[in-house]
Amino acid sequence: MGFDSIEEFWTREDLVRASAAAYASGEDLIRRFESAFLARLGGGGSALFVPSGRAGLRLALATIKTRARDRVLVPAFCCDVVGEAILREGLRPLLLDSGATVGSLDWNACARTIRTEKVAAVVVPHLFGLPLDIKELTQEARRHGTFVIEDCAHCLGGAVDGTAAGALGDFSIFSFNVEKPISMGGGGMLVSSPRAPIAPGDASRIRSYREARAPSPDVERTELAAWLTQQERRRRHVGQPARTTAERAGRLLSKLTHSRVALAVTDVLAREPEPRAGVLRAALGLALLERYPVVQSRRSRNHDYLAARLLDAGVGTLMSAGRGIVPAWLKAKLLVPEAKGDRIRALTRRLWRRGFIAGRITWPRTMDQEWRLALRVARLGPLPNAHRLARLGVDLPIHQNLRDGDLDALAACVIESLG
Ligand SMILES: Cc1ncc(COP(=O)(O)O)c(C=O)c1O
Repeated sequence: MGFDSIEEFWTREDLVRASAAAYASGEDLIRRFESAFLARLGGGGSALFVPSGRAGLRLALATIKTRARDRVLVPAFCCDVVGEAILREGLRPLLLDSGATVGSLDWNACARTIRTEKVAAVVVPHLFGLPLDIKELTQEARRHGTFVIEDCAHCLGGAVDGTAAGALGDFSIFSFNVEKPISMGGGGMLVSSPRAPIAPGDASRIRSYREARAPSPDVERTELAAWLTQQERRRRHVGQPARTTAERAGRLLSKLTHSRVALAVTDVLAREPEPRAGVLRAALGLALLERYPVVQSRRSRNHDYLAARLLDAGVGTLMSAGRGIVPAWLKAKLLVPEAKGDRIRALTRRLWRRGFIAGRITWPRTMDQEWRLALRVARLGPLPNAHRLARLGVDLPIHQNLRDGDLDALAACVIESLG
């Protein structure tokens, strides 16, 4: 494999530079990071650097929840930590089906529910970098006193008709966790639009929440150095068979921790993530934000290149952007035809051996499948499209380190396996 399989785009030198800036400038860097981030989204409203995307979501929900409204609409096909954040705020997730096309939502069910139930908020994820057009939904929600929270964990730099994803609804959250548009091994951003400003009291509460938990630059430096070491280990492992017993045991353990049984246990035991929003990450975030447009355009270009290779090959459908939508692709998501579903496992193994991190990664199960027994989680009717996506959706990498030859090899593997 002649390419770097890990898409995080910073190195030890960046960490050294960010550390120097963090020790020299202090807290002020966090404000600068927040302003620079907000400027990327068009500048309105406010941005608060928070420990994680899920912490941002909880903080947004905490500012809007009322006794009379305890439901939050959220797609069943989404990261389960989103549902968990809703539950932890004492609210009830109402699981929504996906639309017929990959990445879309069942808008009709969504609008119907907003009209008929006391819904506090709708969480709309712009999955894999494709922004959803939520203009009508936002208007409908506003008429019924429901807030729209955009989950931009996968989407930084996308837009709908000239408005940035993250500035379309009332609030938005971003994540700087692993395999996100900008990844710093943790941290997130909570953005509120000028229409739904976070009240000054809430903003200062959130700032003190963050400041009370902010790791010191020393702690962050150690964490981020460990993170880089972990990425280096990952880099070495991709495409390689396990060599030692310890490695084999480690991989088995990691498989088990993703198994259904283990997830059921960890759901109960899950702890809040450690605080990750400190001055050093703000310094690193500023540097990465500056570098990001080049990365974004390379990823988007790679997505289109791969899509063109797979078009008409009979391997399934990829997500695509409609008129007026500017995507900020993070991955390509291929929906494999039902009849070829049994070939996904072999395809995944084959791609892995070639150094491509691919397969049913995000997510192999929907939230209702994860939480069969959770009493506070309700399904808004059957969820056939969400289940199909979890069963037949394959993540394909399109990151900035892949060149045309790599994408040709990736497409060839997919076509040979599924064509
Ligand atoms: C779609 C989506 N939303 C939200 C999150 C939560 O972000 P964080 O891990 O920063 O809490 C994730 C995370 O992994 C995600 O994939």
